[in-house]
Amino acid sequence: MHISTLFLFQSVLHSASTQASEINKLFGQFTIAAVLLLLFVSLLIVYICIRFRDRPGSPLPEQIGKNNRLELLMFIFPVVTIAVLLVATLRTINRVMKPAEGQPDMIVTGHQWWWEVYYPATGVTAANEFHLPIHKNLLIEFHSADVVHDWWVPEFGNKMDVVPGRNNYIWLNITQPGNFIGACSEFCGAEHAWMRIKVFAEDETTFNRWQEANKKTANLPSDELSMKGMLMFQSRSCGTCHRISGTPSTASVGPDLSHLFSRSTMLSGMMPMNEKNLQAWISDPQNVKPDAKMPDFIFSRDTVNAIVHYLTQLK
Ligand code: CUA
Repeated sequence: MHISTLFLFQSVLHSASTQASEINKLFGQFTIAAVLLLLFVSLLIVYICIRFRDRPGSPLPEQIGKNNRLELLMFIFPVVTIAVLLVATLRTINRVMKPAEGQPDMIVTGHQWWWEVYYPATGVTAANEFHLPIHKNLLIEFHSADVVHDWWVPEFGNKMDVVPGRNNYIWLNITQPGNFIGACSEFCGAEHAWMRIKVFAEDETTFNRWQEANKKTANLPSDELSMKGMLMFQSRSCGTCHRISGTPSTASVGPDLSHLFSRSTMLSGMMPMNEKNLQAWISDPQNVKPDAKMPDFIFSRDTVNAIVHYLTQLK
């Protein structure tokens, strides 16, 4: 469903952060070790099969009870191999998983089935789409509002469980600008597959511009229909779950809608953000994303139109 709009070529081996580079370097070292071992063992088997094959009239080979030198070698070789790989792993962990210090740059909360994104320094709140500055050591903190989720953008390397009652952290230093796609990587219920992550990795100027725009109070209705939409939004209980800054709606059960239409996708990457999709969603949420927490309010067509018209102005 509309996946073409979201599809970007991605590979876990393409590193877009210093953490991913470290992890991929370790992966490369393990791969080389594994290939060398495979070659060594395979060639040894081929050699033994040829060298010691049964020939007509050959006697029974000498039967050896024990060989201390060989036994010792068979002990030392794996221990040394594993020790070398262990040291490489610990060094990588040490570089990638530094302890958290100071205020986090971003607090991410996993919900069934969307991501809340909060920037403590500016108070900006967004959902599902992550704007992140490049070439900066970002400390990201993870919370869960319900069950276990897992935040993973393959090109960033770092993957983190989002566990209820526990604050987890990652450090992230993005090295490349561009769009990156990730997903919740821990099964978390019916719509787990539609808990996507879209990252806009931006230079500092672009990131600050985005942050400034999102810091502003939500646009006020500019015409009669959107005024009606706002009143409907307030009176028909939308505000008991959603927040729109500068209005009485301050809840955080569902995504913050203050700048809804500045996002490119909706329902956690399920479909492009547009009027038509928003109309379908509000008219019959359970048909669009079954089991999502958004109830069906059985709004009239006029009410849906007014609310959608209002929401499209929240840029
Ligand atoms: Cu959240 Cu899977």
